[in-house]
Amino acid sequence: MPKKLAAGNWKMNGLTAGLDEVRALQAAHPEPSVGILICPPATLLSAVAGALGGTAIAAGGQDCHAEANGAHTGDISASMLADAGASHVIVGHSERRGEHGESDEDVAAKAAAAHGAGLTAIICLGESQAQREAGEHLAVITAQLAGSLPGGATAANTIIAYEPIWAIGTGLTAGPEEIAEAHTALREALEARLQDGAEVTLLYGGSVKGANAAEIFAVPNVDGALVGGASLTSADFSPIISALE
Ligand code: G3P
Repeated sequence: MPKKLAAGNWKMNGLTAGLDEVRALQAAHPEPSVGILICPPATLLSAVAGALGGTAIAAGGQDCHAEANGAHTGDISASMLADAGASHVIVGHSERRGEHGESDEDVAAKAAAAHGAGLTAIICLGESQAQREAGEHLAVITAQLAGSLPGGATAANTIIAYEPIWAIGTGLTAGPEEIAEAHTALREALEARLQDGAEVTLLYGGSVKGANAAEIFAVPNVDGALVGGASLTSADFSPIISALE
């Protein structure tokens, strides 16, 4: 997949009718010059992967368990996601860290499980409003990066998504200077930790829309976006993809 990526995180949204949006997106971008990924809810993963089979658009999961199988009612393993047609999985989204108490250590274990199943892990991190106001945001995100990156991470199997919590689903977007500061710090930390850290795809997430995508993609070290609400319809997601191309 190209370094530039437009990824959609449908979160807990989408029924079978949502497949029409996937088909419309495919028709709008038959030969994209950037990577496109849709992460639907697990219930739709096989169907989305089937609808996209043979196209340039990939399908991914939104979370995985750190173990390969076992007595974990309601959980899904990375190998199950791969079996359902996923090539990627999001781990450590702030909604998982917040609502399910996932630590950096948990996220690293999930990313390692993803790698073990042949999936690319999209590791999410980002500071809260209070942490930003306290001037701790760079320390917070670089510590999250250090704690959430598993051994064996490379640019080929790992993507980092910077998602400031205060910008998710709020309509508030981090400004270009705020994004540049965070992405520069993350790039430097990646280069210090990984041999190919310069090649790791670094996504921004948080109220990305067609109207602000071009400005965000012009920021240095932004290689694309992880999009929530505006990825649910082809009409909203397609202009974001076009802005990245
Ligand atoms: O993972 C994507 C995300 O958290 C951003 O969501 O709805 O603000 O684009 P949204």
